[in-house]
Amino acid sequence: MNRTTVGEFLRARGVSRRDFLKFCTTAASAMALPAALVPQIADALEKARRPSVIWLPFQECTGCTESITRAHGATIEGMIFDAISLDYQHTLQAAAGAAAEQAREQAMKDNWGKYLLIVDGSIPTADEGYGTIAGVSHLEMLREAAKGAAAIVALGSCAAFGGIPMAKPDPTGAVPVSEIVKDKPIINVPGCPPIPVVITGVLMQYLTFGRIPELDALGRPKVFYGQTVHDRCYRRPFYERGEFAETFDDEGARKGWCLYKLGCKGPTTYNACATAKWNEGVSFPIEAGHGCIGCSEPRFWDAGGFYRSLSTGNWGTARTVGTAVGVGVALGAAAALSARKRQKDMEKKA
Ligand code: SF4
Ligand code: SF4
Ligand code: F3S
Repeated sequence: MNRTTVGEFLRARGVSRRDFLKFCTTAASAMALPAALVPQIADALEKARRPSVIWLPFQECTGCTESITRAHGATIEGMIFDAISLDYQHTLQAAAGAAAEQAREQAMKDNWGKYLLIVDGSIPTADEGYGTIAGVSHLEMLREAAKGAAAIVALGSCAAFGGIPMAKPDPTGAVPVSEIVKDKPIINVPGCPPIPVVITGVLMQYLTFGRIPELDALGRPKVFYGQTVHDRCYRRPFYERGEFAETFDDEGARKGWCLYKLGCKGPTTYNACATAKWNEGVSFPIEAGHGCIGCSEPRFWDAGGFYRSLSTGNWGTARTVGTAVGVGVALGAAAALSARKRQKDMEKKA
């Protein structure tokens, strides 16, 4: 654990009290906490020691790292790197090879039992040679790094659920972190990639309160994954009225109608995209005109086609489905209800 507090560190970098409070206000909103808690957050952050963070990227596409580093300007996503001590991230760091691995081992030794381990990417198990860093297999590195961690953040759908590398025929025998590590708290932050403000919200919560957030049955923080995309989608009124785009370039699409019949998985997908959005709140897939592909749900990659609707999987042409719209909505609602029931059942069992 770094001896400098977050407050001291930010002041030393010229961050004014006013900017620090602005940072705390943004942090409160990222954690979905009321503004009334800002003084408490400021106090906690002022005194918090900057935790050591070791970030291991395994079988991944760098999308998760890109997601958190693609922020523009002095946003919370940028400032989070000031509030933590990122001691190892081999995609971002300048050092490579033996020097980098020595730094990782040193950081682990100095912070044994206290560091936060972030993992993005799945872990190949079919052959340990499929993924190695400086001659150490992903499997071995994860086991070793997990031993000294206080908690683990499985970042992105690959680390949380296996992700794209696990797609059939799964040549590498990809598994999520939870298949390997059984004795540490794991926070799953799925999404392909996850929303930057969700990543920082989870990290801020850990940093501010020193504990992991309340999780759902799939290990996801409820505050961000407690509702479906459909629950908060701005196209929902069109869905309720049975107004659906039939193709990506028809009049309905131009008018912004519901994308359900074009395969939108929003009714069965738990994520905060519709409210948190991307690129500092600019947009999210549905606002950009494409249905949700369910990227924060397990096995979304093999779930039967991104463009097949949840109800029948085959809607035919506008004319043939004209009378089936009501049925489709009913079936969609049934799919959403069954997803909600599945979620509740899993939570009861957890
Ligand atoms: Fe890439 Fe998606 Fe896996 Fe992240 S979750 S590493 S974005 S494939
Ligand atoms: Fe939005 Fe998709 Fe639900 Fe339509 S089906 S309201 S586009 S989430
Ligand atoms: Fe993923 Fe759907 Fe959001 S595809 S980014 S969960 S809208």
